[in-house]
Amino acid sequence: MLAEAQRLERLVSDLMDLARLGAQDFPLDLVPIDLVDLVRRASDVWRDRCARESVELRLELPGSPVTVTTDPTRVRQILDGLAENALRVTPSGQPLVFALTAAPAGVVLQVRDGGPGLTDADVAVAFERSALYDRYRGERRVGTGIGLALVDGLTRRLGGHAEAGPAPEGGAAFTIRLPREPSYEARTLR
Ligand SMILES: Nc1ncnc2c1ncn2[C@@H]1O[C@H](COP(=O)(O)OP(=O)(O)O)[C@@H](O)[C@H]1O
Ligand SMILES: [Mg+2]
Repeated sequence: MLAEAQRLERLVSDLMDLARLGAQDFPLDLVPIDLVDLVRRASDVWRDRCARESVELRLELPGSPVTVTTDPTRVRQILDGLAENALRVTPSGQPLVFALTAAPAGVVLQVRDGGPGLTDADVAVAFERSALYDRYRGERRVGTGIGLALVDGLTRRLGGHAEAGPAPEGGAAFTIRLPREPSYEARTLR
């Protein structure tokens, strides 16, 4: 009962975020943060969740801080949404990976898994609301079908770009590219 109430609460807040993103009514709280630290903090929570499913969470992080100006709550929402999806389909014994790399123009955050992966047709529609959810609802464990559309909308709002593809671990890789600083448009949109 509690799980169902939490699921509904989450569904409503995800839908509201998605609607506000579509209506360009989505203020950001931009601050300079170290993404290495953000990923480490997230991994403290996800390592336990993974361990309960006998999935090993691996981190691939640079040795020095990666400072960007962004909205940390929204980056965490993106990472959590991708990790939730990946863990749900990853069989025990397979890995889940959080990887962060820094480039001069921006940063790349990846969530990769050793799950069933995505077909080329899946990749083409991955960020359309309910597309993969509808395709897999009888076949894989699914949630509410909003997560990836929200990941894409949030990433764009932060001035970045989201991509889906294959992972070297055998499953799916979701790649989030973020700028070091959001553009003028991203900063001034209210
Ligand atoms: N890492 C992944 N590997 C395989 N399938 C995935 C992965 N991430 C998402 N999917 C598929 O995409 C669907 C849609 O994801 P999402 O939009 O987050 O909705 P939800 O998680 O609520 O089902 C999932 O139900 C699942 O079938
Ligand atoms: Mg989801």
